[in-house]
Order: sequence, then structure tokens, then C-alpha cells
Amino acid sequence: MKLKGKVAIITGGSRGQGAAEAKLFAKEGASVIIGDILDDEGEKVANEIEDSGGSAKYVSLDVQNEVEWRNAVKLAITTYGKLDILVNNAAILTLSTIEETTKEEWDKVMDINMWGIVLGTKAVLPEMRKAGAGAIVNISSLSAIIAQPWAAAYHASKGAVRIHTKEAALEFAKDNIRVNSIHPGAIDTDMIRDAYGVERVSEYLELIPLGRMGNAEDIAKGVVFLASDDSSYITGAELTIDGGILIK
Ligand SMILES: NC(=O)c1ccc[n+]([C@@H]2O[C@H](COP(=O)([O-])OP(=O)(O)OC[C@H]3O[C@@H](n4cnc5c(N)ncnc54)[C@H](O)[C@@H]3O)[C@@H](O)[C@H]2O)c1
Repeated sequence: MKLKGKVAIITGGSRGQGAAEAKLFAKEGASVIIGDILDDEGEKVANEIEDSGGSAKYVSLDVQNEVEWRNAVKLAITTYGKLDILVNNAAILTLSTIEETTKEEWDKVMDINMWGIVLGTKAVLPEMRKAGAGAIVNISSLSAIIAQPWAAAYHASKGAVRIHTKEAALEFAKDNIRVNSIHPGAIDTDMIRDAYGVERVSEYLELIPLGRMGNAEDIAKGVVFLASDDSSYITGAELTIDGGILIK
């Protein structure tokens, strides 16, 4: 059990990669607070974890909302007594070129994908400092490293997450809080299916040296590694999990 005795908050944990991370964290011994805006789905994931012998609670958490962040941290402390890990996973994807993107759309993407991570980081810091250690894993994207001419605001937000991660790693190293980013490639979840449709998704396969799309569990394994003591000397790093897309 790689996360035995640890307490984690995972945002966007009601479905997709966040739900897979919550389940794997619980299997590895962590107690998990799942935060999301999809309440029914989130409660279901938490119940599934509890039914299979793990510990999990769902909390309604819009990552743009500082008050809801405070509630989520409070729930972790009142229920499990401490907080060791934050996984900033929640995000949205919109498909627009630079010229098509309105300021309203750009702000919304940045508010959730970027500000959500900053607010979460600020909210957990006092408890991690109190504990004398912490691990924060930010889910960025391959979109922070390569450009595609149709998701301008999303790419900018994920690029911001990438460098913010290194900035935070530098700032909080003195507190023994590690901060790393994960950069998924094409992962088979609702986000990508809703945005591109099933037919477009299959076009991705030609770009992937390993010949398949990733699944949520492929990402969850990387998140467990960066959240666990197995990565105790790793901070400010970026882990691409993309079936080799970046090689080409
Ligand atoms: N699927 C991919 O191919 C892919 C590739 C690269 C990066 N990513 C990143 O991986 C992460 C997980 O994505 P996924 O593929 O599981 O997508 P998903 O859409 O299935 O899950 C995203 C979750 O975030 C939640 N969410 C959205 N806005 C929120 C808000 N304001 N507050 C709280 N929760 C909110 C959603 O309700 C959902 O449960 C995201 O950061 C995404 O950008 C995904």
C-alpha cells in the first residue's frame, strides 16, 4: 500500500481520471475527499469506495470558489485529522481558435483550469505546513508542451499550470511540500469524447506510438507515484503519460 495512512483531496473526482485516481488512492490505503460539481456522480464514486472497504467522502467543490475550498479542507481535517496530498485534476476543455475565443470563454477556462489550482494550493498549505510535509500533483496536459490550432484557451491554461507547478515547487520546498505536474496525452474519457466525438478520437491512434489511447487508470498510476513517498526526492518535475506521442 503506497499511500497507507495518507489523506488526499482530489478535485474533479466524480468521473474520468479523477474517479480512477480516487479509487486507486483508496486501494493504496489513502482516505480520499472527492471534490467536484457533479454531486450525484461524486457521491456514487465515494460510496463505491466505501462499499469496497476504502475511506472516501464527497464534497461539493467548485474549484473557483474559495469558500468551498475552505469547506473541503475542513472536511478532510474533521473527518480524517490531517491532509497530506492534493490532486488538482478538475478542468474543462473548450474548442476555439485564438480568433474565435471570446474574453468570457478565455476567462472561464483560466478561472477553472488555472485559478482553481492556485486557490486549491493556497487552501491546503496551512494544513500541509502543520503536518510538516505535503505532495501536490497538478494535472496539466500534453497541451502545455505542444500546440494544436483549435483549443487556444485550454492550451494557455495548461501551459500556465506547467510553469505554476515549478514556481510552487520552488516556493514550498522549504516546507517539505513537493509539487509536480502530469501531462496526459489522449486519454479515453468523457472530456475528449464530448469534445471530439468517437470518430475523431480514433484518428488519434495514428499519432500514438504505443498504438492505443490511454485510459484513466494509466494516469492514476502516475498520480499515485508522484503523491507517494516513492517520489520523495522529486519536485518541480513533469511526467508525460502519453503512449509516446512526444517522441515524434
Ligand atoms: N482526457 C484527456 O485526453 C486529457 C488529456 C490531457 C489532460 N487531461 C486533463 O486531465 C484532467 C481530467 O480530465 P478527464 O479526462 O478525466 O475529464 P472529465 O471531463 O471526464 O473530468 C473532469 C472533471 O472535472 C470536473 N470539473 C469541471 N469543472 C469543475 C469545477 N469548476 N470545479 C470542480 N470540478 C470541476 C468535472 O465535473 C469532471 O468530473 C483534466 O485536468 C484534463 O484537462 C485530459
